[in-house]
Amino acid sequence: MNYHDALAAVGAGSAHPGGFAGTRAWMQKVHIAPGATVLEVGCGTGRTACAISAAYNAKVIAVDIHPQMIAKAKVRAQTLNLPVTFMTIDRGPLPFDAETMDAVIAESVTVFNDAPPLLREYHRVLRPGGFVIDIEMSAAAKLPDDVMQTFRETYGAVAVPTLQQWKRHYADAQFTGVRLLLSGPVPTSAPREDESDAYGLVTGEAYAPDVWRIMQENERVMATHAKWLHYGVIQAYKQLPQ
Ligand SMILES: C[S@@+](CC[C@H](N)C(=O)[O-])C[C@H]1O[C@@H](n2cnc3c(N)ncnc32)[C@H](O)[C@@H]1O
Repeated sequence: MNYHDALAAVGAGSAHPGGFAGTRAWMQKVHIAPGATVLEVGCGTGRTACAISAAYNAKVIAVDIHPQMIAKAKVRAQTLNLPVTFMTIDRGPLPFDAETMDAVIAESVTVFNDAPPLLREYHRVLRPGGFVIDIEMSAAAKLPDDVMQTFRETYGAVAVPTLQQWKRHYADAQFTGVRLLLSGPVPTSAPREDESDAYGLVTGEAYAPDVWRIMQENERVMATHAKWLHYGVIQAYKQLPQ
């Protein structure tokens, strides 16, 4: 069992820096037109996908490589009666045609992948004028090897770039207008949001000893290494709108 299995088991709805409050904060800064097509990559149990569908009346397609996340996301959308399309996908090229999306959302997803090819996929599927919103964990400064090793082992993070390096990755993937909507140290005192029960997403496996061990290890690592952990909400365009 790994960190993402544990998140799926507890039905976590906002497993990204800043939690759902962070999602609300970027949503207040971003305009998505009614009827726009929005792809969320790494949607987890679908809380943000459902919020986007409801708030913007957008056509939302949300994908994840974790089947249990997608199963729980479908339960959430059914409970809320929202028309979000959820799909389990394989890691790698996104299974969508080029220039079919108005926005791509990724909340704490890219960091678990080799970033450059995944950012090129975000770019490929976007229509010209479309944009990415990406909440990413970032390093306050270049991480010592032992700290990076801890993040690799605890979370499966591939690399933890600084915010400057994230922006560079976006520029290298041909994005333009790359900017930070929000940034700062990862909030460690955010209130816990135990909303999963309301949708029946906390199922029996949430109480397995391995799940508790992994969630406790997450809290220990976050507390121990808080000084290294920043985050940013990046917005980046495929061609700036005129
Ligand atoms: C830390 S969780 C965040 C989930 C959700 N975005 C949230 O904020 O609650 C990362 C999620 O990204 C998914 N993921 C990682 N790499 C992915 C990829 N290349 N394509 C699709 N999903 C991916 C994982 O399975 C996991 O559900």
